[in-house]
Amino acid sequence: MQRKEITVLGLGYIGLPTAVVMARAGHHVKGYDAKREVRESLRKGKIHITESHLQEAFTEAADRRCLEIAESVENSDVYVICVPTPFCEAEKGKTADLSFVEAAAKEVAGVLKRGDLVILESTVPPHTTAGITKLLSEKSGLSEQDFYTAHCPERVLPGNILYELKHNDRIIGAADPKAAEMTKELYETFVAGGRCYICDDVTAELCKLAENTFRDINIAYANQLSMICESAGIDVFRLIGLANKHPRVSILTPGLGVGGHCLAVDPWFIVEKYGEEASLIQTAREINEKKPVWVKEKIADELGQDKGKKIGILGMTYKPNIDDMRESPSVILAEALKNDGYQVYGCEPNSHGDTIGGIRIVPLDEILDMCDYVVVALAHDEFKSEEVRRKIIERPHYDCIGLLRS
Ligand SMILES: NC(=O)c1ccc[n+]([C@@H]2O[C@H](COP(=O)([O-])OP(=O)(O)OC[C@H]3O[C@@H](n4cnc5c(N)ncnc54)[C@H](O)[C@@H]3O)[C@@H](O)[C@H]2O)c1
Repeated sequence: MQRKEITVLGLGYIGLPTAVVMARAGHHVKGYDAKREVRESLRKGKIHITESHLQEAFTEAADRRCLEIAESVENSDVYVICVPTPFCEAEKGKTADLSFVEAAAKEVAGVLKRGDLVILESTVPPHTTAGITKLLSEKSGLSEQDFYTAHCPERVLPGNILYELKHNDRIIGAADPKAAEMTKELYETFVAGGRCYICDDVTAELCKLAENTFRDINIAYANQLSMICESAGIDVFRLIGLANKHPRVSILTPGLGVGGHCLAVDPWFIVEKYGEEASLIQTAREINEKKPVWVKEKIADELGQDKGKKIGILGMTYKPNIDDMRESPSVILAEALKNDGYQVYGCEPNSHGDTIGGIRIVPLDEILDMCDYVVVALAHDEFKSEEVRRKIIERPHYDCIGLLRS
C-alpha cells in the first residue's frame, strides 16, 4: 500500500499508541490533541500517559519524523478520530456524550477534500457513524458520496496496547463497502498478527458495545455472588474456586466494582438506545455500580460511629498496574467514606499526584503504619509481597479481591 498522510485526532490512551503504530508501519502521521499541555509535552518528547514501551516507540517514530505533533488539524488523506466518549446524566438516564466526537468531526470538515477517508475509532452508540458522516458533509460542503467514513472500534488492553494493536483482530464497519475496503487495506499495514473483518457500520458499533457488556455482565455475576456469600457467611473466593472445578463453569473474580472508560460506560450506550430490551444489561450495570457503596456500608457497620479512625485504601486506579483513574470504584469508595466523616487515605504506586479526587495519596509503608483499617481494592504488584500482606493482616481490613488468601 502507498504511504498515507494520516492525522490522528486525540492523543490519549488509544490515539497516541495508534499514531505510533501507524507511523512505524511506514505512514506519515500528524497527531493533534485539543489539549495544549498534551501537545507541548509530546513536542518536548515526553509522553503524558503510562503505557508499556510507548515512550521508546514514540521517541523512535518522532526522531525519524514519521510522527509529528500538529497545532491544528491539517490536510491529510486519512483522519482517525480517537477522542473520548463519556456518558452524561440526562433526564432519561445515562446517555453518550458525543460532543468530543462532533467537535473533532467539525475540525476534520474544515480540511476535508474529495476521496478522503475518515475513521471513527471512539466507542459510540449505534448509528453514530452515519450521524458523523452527515455532519462532515454539512460542515465541509461535500456530498456524502465525495468522501469515505468507517467505524473501527478499539479493543486493546491497557498495559499491553502496543502489542494488541498489532495482534488483535479488528472489526471494520461502513455503510459504503468501498470505505470498509479502504480502511481494511490501511489497517492491514500494521495489524500483523490479527485479521480485519468487514461489516456494516451499525454492526461494528454494536459489536464493540456487546464485547464490553459481556465482560460487565460476567463481573456483575461475580460481584453479586460476593454479596450473597457475605449474607450466607461463606467465603466467595473459596466458593468460586470450587464452582470453577466444573468443566464448563468459569466464574470471574469479584472486586470492588467495575471502573474505567469502557466497561463502566459502554453498556449504557445500549441501554440508552434499546432500554426495553436491555434489562439484563442495565441490571448488571446497577450491580457493579452498587458494589463500592455496599462495601462502604460494610466498613461503616464494622467501624461504627468512631469517625476518628483512619482508613487506607490500597489501589486507586480502576484496575491493577495502570495509572488510569477514570470511573474508579476506589475513588467512589474513598469519597463515600470521606462523606461519612472518616479520615480516608489512598495508596497508588502508579500515580505521581499528591491527591486523587480530594483524597490524600500516601506511600505504601506510610499508609500501613498510620491507618487503623485497610481496604485492599486492587492487586497491584507492589501489594503482593509476603511482607505487605503480613502487615495488612495484622490490622483490621476488608479484602475486596481475595489478595490475602494464601
Ligand atoms: N482507553 C482504553 O483502554 C480504550 C479501549 C477501547 C476503546 N476506547 C475508546 O477510545 C476512545 C478514546 O479513549 P481514550 O482512552 O484514548 O481517551 P483519552 O481521554 O485518554 O484521550 C482522548 C484525547 O482526546 C483529546 N481530545 C478531546 N477532544 C478533542 C478534539 N476535538 N480534537 C482533538 N483531540 C481531542 C483529549 O484531550 C484527550 O487527550 C473512547 O471512545 C474510548 O471509549 C478506549
